[in-house]
Amino acid sequence: MTVRRATPADAAELTRLRAEMFAAYGGADPDEGDWEVACTRMLAEQLAGAVPGNPVGVVAFVVDDPDDPSLPGRPGRLLAGGVGWIERHLPGPGNRTGARGHIASMSTVPGARRQGLGRLVLRALLDYFAYHGVSRVDLFAARMGSGLYRSEGFQDAVAPALSWYAPGARLPPWRQPGPGTAERAG
Ligand SMILES: CC(C)(COP(=O)(O)OP(=O)(O)OC[C@H]1O[C@@H](n2cnc3c(N)ncnc32)[C@H](O)[C@@H]1OP(=O)(O)O)[C@@H](O)C(=O)NCCC(=O)NCCS
Repeated sequence: MTVRRATPADAAELTRLRAEMFAAYGGADPDEGDWEVACTRMLAEQLAGAVPGNPVGVVAFVVDDPDDPSLPGRPGRLLAGGVGWIERHLPGPGNRTGARGHIASMSTVPGARRQGLGRLVLRALLDYFAYHGVSRVDLFAARMGSGLYRSEGFQDAVAPALSWYAPGARLPPWRQPGPGTAERAG
């Protein structure tokens, strides 16, 4: 299996993988269905580099499904993917540019998990950040990804990540009680 950089044509499949990620933790409410439309649109825009003020933009790395019957040139089915972007924080000691990588939406379809695809995607993202001189990469580790991330050198953040939600806001699936509850904040 090989990993490649995603193009805007992969946006819908990356959104499907993101839905698989939520499904692993209980899934989104059916009445929230249109997040997928918004997500596909945003990924298509961002992967095309069409976002003003964001010269680097969002990147994603994906693994194609070798059994996909799609015709060449058509966006094909994916087995795994992960998304990353470079955030600009204030410069500080040890980080004069303030650049930090962020990884999100790591997802492998259920039938292809534990075969090394997530690691391929993660390493491709880390190589991308290294190429851009980024010396710190953050993510929120849900339970299923924690071992993989730690084995690639991720460690507990120096300070705990805290989140604030507006009154009445729905928590993401991994913040709700259930079998897939995150080890840390999701
Ligand atoms: C987290 C996730 C993306 C990992 O993807 P993956 O393709 O299964 O990742 P890998 O196969 O590279 O590694 C996963 C585990 O399988 C193990 N593994 C890899 N190849 C293996 C093999 N041939 N035989 C046995 N185990 C293997 C890895 O060592 C790792 O073990 P660990 O979790 O105990 O440390 C996937 O489980 C997933 O999509 N989960 C649901 C969504 C989710 O939680 N996303 C992360 C949000 S932060």
